[in-house]
Amino acid sequence: MEGIERVLLDERQLRERVRELGQDISRDYADGDLLLLGILKGSVIFLADLARAMTIPVDMDFIAVSSYGTSTATSGQVRLLKDLDAPIEGRDVLIVEDIIDSGLTLSYLMDMLGSRNPRSIKVAVLLDKPERRQEDVFPEYTGFTIPDEFVVGYGLDYAEQYRALPYIGVLSPAVYAEQ
Ligand code: IMP
Ligand code: MG
Repeated sequence: MEGIERVLLDERQLRERVRELGQDISRDYADGDLLLLGILKGSVIFLADLARAMTIPVDMDFIAVSSYGTSTATSGQVRLLKDLDAPIEGRDVLIVEDIIDSGLTLSYLMDMLGSRNPRSIKVAVLLDKPERRQEDVFPEYTGFTIPDEFVVGYGLDYAEQYRALPYIGVLSPAVYAEQ
């Protein structure tokens, strides 16, 4: 695919890891009343596959935030673009996110959602890039820990492109050097 330097995680690796995460989460929330809270738009493909790998009933809701614009580095500011449809008071909430980089997005969301008195609030993230962390976030479930490279596919975008790739690929630096 043009613009992709190499495949980092192929379809099979993603499928197997997501299946394991689905099993772990189903076991841990067997007695709960779980709300999967997807962060738009990057988490939608992960969330769709994760939900189907689970063996317990789940509710879904979505929130949209923006911190990046079209660049590959965080602006350091998180903006709420779309709030949840329903209150989360008393609920077991699992935030489903595509990737943790600086940690700013998730720490903002944990603070904001934590103040709404859920019964519990935890994080499932597909990818963790620990090298650039500015805020501590400790996800309960992590798919893969990856190096500090800009990746796309399986929901992740660069300037709204590449989300529908079925694998995770490293974006060629030439793509953002052109900007
Ligand atoms: P953080 O706030 O810096 O942790 O960034 C989290 C958000 O930045 C994610 O939800 C992604 O939308 C975006 N992001 C961070 N790294 C990448 C990447 O390598 N590819 C695509 N999006 C990324
Ligand atoms: Mg995102």
